[in-house]
Amino acid sequence: MVRISLANIFEQYPDRHYIMFGGKGGLGKTTFSAATAYYLAKKGKRVLVFSVDPQASLSDIFKKDIFGKGPTEIMPNLYAQEIDADRRVKEYQEEIRKKILEMYGMEKIPEEIESYIQAAAAEPAMEESAIFDEVVDIVVKGGYDYYIYDLVPLGHALYYLSMASVYDEWIDKITSLRQQMREYDQVAAVIRRDKELDEDAILNELLYIKDRINKSSNILTDKQKTAFFFVVTAEEMIINDTLKAGELFAKFDVPLSGYIVNRVLPASLKEQNIPEYLRNRLTMQEHYLKVIDEVFKGQILAFVSEMERDITGLTMIEKIAKNMFGDF
Ligand SMILES: Nc1ncnc2c1ncn2[C@@H]1O[C@H](COP(=O)(O)OP(=O)(O)OP(=O)(O)O)[C@@H](O)[C@H]1O
Ligand SMILES: [Mg+2]
Repeated sequence: MVRISLANIFEQYPDRHYIMFGGKGGLGKTTFSAATAYYLAKKGKRVLVFSVDPQASLSDIFKKDIFGKGPTEIMPNLYAQEIDADRRVKEYQEEIRKKILEMYGMEKIPEEIESYIQAAAAEPAMEESAIFDEVVDIVVKGGYDYYIYDLVPLGHALYYLSMASVYDEWIDKITSLRQQMREYDQVAAVIRRDKELDEDAILNELLYIKDRINKSSNILTDKQKTAFFFVVTAEEMIINDTLKAGELFAKFDVPLSGYIVNRVLPASLKEQNIPEYLRNRLTMQEHYLKVIDEVFKGQILAFVSEMERDITGLTMIEKIAKNMFGDF
């Protein structure tokens, strides 16, 4: 039987321009994101791999400080970007200050309001929304054949997804309320011009946010344009968590393209004179690889070996890419 391979999937679905690797913390999402970017760039595609993680590690894997520097060329066709959420939050704060000063004709922001602006910026949700905003900018701007999202660990990615749908519902409610009110206003012929204009500005702002959120969450759930892969390892807890996560993602209509098994110890070690400890690990792995085969029936796209060292620099990235995609 011919297994569908990762390389096949990319050939078969050339319209899937948004590539994501999901999985628990530390399983290899960033590693696979970088390796996939490397593979596609070598194939002549223009690729941007960008991190949506405040604890981004693309700088580490590419051995180049790219934080907050916008898309940075790593090699021909391959660009990487680490989003500086802090800077974006500071820009928000500045915008809010400016608006307040303009609206109320003030010279200086009152202290209470300033401390409120400071406190709001410290909210984790602020950082998330700053990143969210920047991601929308990146994909709306265009210019690449492929966009590879270096995602945060699962729980967080789910939060991000659910935030998009909650936000969306909330804005729907507000906009429909606002529209109802506008109709009511007309019937009652209560015309307060100034106030109405203000409210329309708010409505427009909400519609703008809604449109941006829709753009980015639509990408996540668009089977034509998006490929979402799960990274898994041959361990009981990881398999169980990945199964649960797969179900949750299905609830949010995220189309799953398949699973990639990482950190597989070479089976040939078994023939060698190895310590008991390693033999136990190999036996355990053998068992869980069978489990993986059963539970993710026909959806495993690649097995990637445990390398002799951690994955940083293009030589190691290429090794991983060859494991993932075969020789190229
Ligand atoms: N096949 C492999 N062989 C050897 N080391 C690996 C392999 N895959 C990943 N690693 C190493 O494991 C560590 C975690 O990998 P990585 O950063 O890609 O995980 P992650 O899923 O992105 O983690 P996080 O959830 O924290 O973002 C890194 O040090 C990486 O070099
Ligand atoms: Mg990572």
